[in-house]
Amino acid sequence: MQLPKIHSITKKMLVALVGGFLLLFLLFHMTANLFILRHDDGAWYSAFCHFMGTNWVVKLFEVVLLGVLALHILLTLWLALTNRLARPVRYKQRQRSETHTTSKLMMWTGILIFAFLVMHFCQFYFVKIGWVKGEYMVEVEKLQTDEVNTVQQFSMQQGMSPEDFVSSLEGQLAMYADQMPAEEYESMVQNIANLRGAVPVAGLLSDAVAKGHLSENRKWVRHLDYDQRQMLKKTVPDCGVEPDFYYMSRQLFHNALMVILYLIAFVALFMHLTHAFPSVFQSLGLNNYKYNNFIEICGKIYTWVITLGFAAVPILVYIGL
Ligand code: HEM
Repeated sequence: MQLPKIHSITKKMLVALVGGFLLLFLLFHMTANLFILRHDDGAWYSAFCHFMGTNWVVKLFEVVLLGVLALHILLTLWLALTNRLARPVRYKQRQRSETHTTSKLMMWTGILIFAFLVMHFCQFYFVKIGWVKGEYMVEVEKLQTDEVNTVQQFSMQQGMSPEDFVSSLEGQLAMYADQMPAEEYESMVQNIANLRGAVPVAGLLSDAVAKGHLSENRKWVRHLDYDQRQMLKKTVPDCGVEPDFYYMSRQLFHNALMVILYLIAFVALFMHLTHAFPSVFQSLGLNNYKYNNFIEICGKIYTWVITLGFAAVPILVYIGL
């Protein structure tokens, strides 16, 4: 089998550049995740996710990130395959060299991390792009049109549901229809039709208040399900309803199995990064005997900080801190 020929050094440098980008992303992702640990009803983490979901520079970054992730996997597989094809006949006497063990370990920890990412994407990223159902939230302000406010205010005053309130208006209009000038009647029909259109959203808001589903700062309506998200997308297309990642993460880590699976992935990540960090510098030719010790220490600090930072979230949420 023939693979396209690119100089092995070029391939290694590409892998290193792409790997360096992923190292920076992990630091960023881990730091942001620590907001989940704040007991602020998600104010910081939700604000962060909202920014991540709406800023176009971030959206572009996300596309680049996913491309880079795919490139990282393809390049490393390619590198491994070309190395194997370069020696089609196995040594008779198998040698247990350090390089052999490390690169085998990189392949296995890489596969584990990939499996983790498939699960992780199903739990979060695919919810964001709408492939998987989750829990959603929306800014209260975005729902408060004049019609919604009117229905909510008057139905509350009269102790009725929004649905019953608008039905009672429709009933009264029907009763007085033949006593009204045609023009006034038409305009009333139109006004009540507008109020009827606002019933689902007003109902959703009243329900959220009654069930205590507003965030502590009363900025967000939380705990919306997929059907409510669809209804909002249809009735208020630019309301920006989005996944409630703060709540979803905290929910996820109340499940012991999930905590264990995440911790296994973090051990694999620890082992992967232990080799990856110095190897990025080596492949880019940025190491020499003067700085090797320094790079090694930075690598150790980075790897521990990333692993402990990620692990803190499931562990502390699970034990209720
Ligand atoms: C406690 C651990 C973790 C939590 C709570 C967590 C949470 C999340 C959440 C909520 C998202 C969606 C955010 C958004 O798109 O706005 C996300 C996306 C993502 N996560 Fe994680 N994550 C964790 C660990 C990891 C690890 C260890 C990796 C890599 C090995 C990783 C890689 C990614 C990637 C590539 C994305 C998609 C890109 C993005 O949306 O930013 N995550 N994660």
